[in-house]
Amino acid sequence: MKTLAITGVTRGLGRAMVEEFIRLGHIVLGCGRSEQDLADLRRCFGKPHEFDPVDVASDEQVQAWAKRLFKSHAAPDLVLNNAAVINSNAPLWNVSSEEFGRVIDVNIKGVASVIRHFVPEMIERGSGLVVNFSSGWGRSTDSEVAPYCATKWAIEGLTQALAQELPAGLAAIALNPGIINTDMLRSCFGGSASTYPSAEQWARKAVPFLLELGPKHNGQSLTVS
Ligand SMILES: NC(=O)c1ccc[n+]([C@@H]2O[C@H](COP(=O)([O-])OP(=O)(O)OC[C@H]3O[C@@H](n4cnc5c(N)ncnc54)[C@H](OP(=O)(O)O)[C@@H]3O)[C@@H](O)[C@H]2O)c1
Repeated sequence: MKTLAITGVTRGLGRAMVEEFIRLGHIVLGCGRSEQDLADLRRCFGKPHEFDPVDVASDEQVQAWAKRLFKSHAAPDLVLNNAAVINSNAPLWNVSSEEFGRVIDVNIKGVASVIRHFVPEMIERGSGLVVNFSSGWGRSTDSEVAPYCATKWAIEGLTQALAQELPAGLAAIALNPGIINTDMLRSCFGGSASTYPSAEQWARKAVPFLLELGPKHNGQSLTVS
């Protein structure tokens, strides 16, 4: 039985992973922003699972979340940095500074905050994996999603550098989940998103894949295929 900390559990891949990890007997410590979806998760899955309101763009909120969790749970075996946002489709010169900043704050600084407040406990325990959700757009690019691409390329670099820093027994992995029909995909692909698998279908292969990862994967850029 493993303990997983997952960001962005209220919808999409995060929500589907919660259901699948719990179905397989694991403990999920999840966060997101939508209070209503978090309440629904708490109704569906009681203790020892935890679902807390956290905006990962706030280092203070992430720190408070980690402190709260460590009062009653050991350091997680896996930290899944899944939460992210995408800019509305537009050429870069039409993306406002505010929207660009928000994508950076959630997708890069949010991941760094989770690492800042969870990894020291994992180092103390001597084991644990950090999986940072990247994208096909962390390894290639497309028009109208430049801010998102910039953040996912950053995640690839940040993960490789982190992998060089972690002590033996720990690992950092960048994961491209593939292409899945979620709110995020509908935002950038429009109607054609419906031709891709659902988050639930994806979770049935992604969760066993994640459970197989270990220290030997440190520094790798992997894809759920
Ligand atoms: N779907 C795809 O095809 C695809 C492809 C490549 C990569 N990815 C990556 O896979 C991950 C999941 O994507 P998805 O498709 O499931 O996206 P999604 O459907 O838009 O869901 C994103 C999740 O992140 C949460 N979130 C957003 N901002 C947050 C914040 N500031 N603090 C905490 N939680 C936050 C959202 O919940 P709240 O709004 O309640 O906070 C939601 O639960 C992302 O990293 C994405 O970049 C997805």
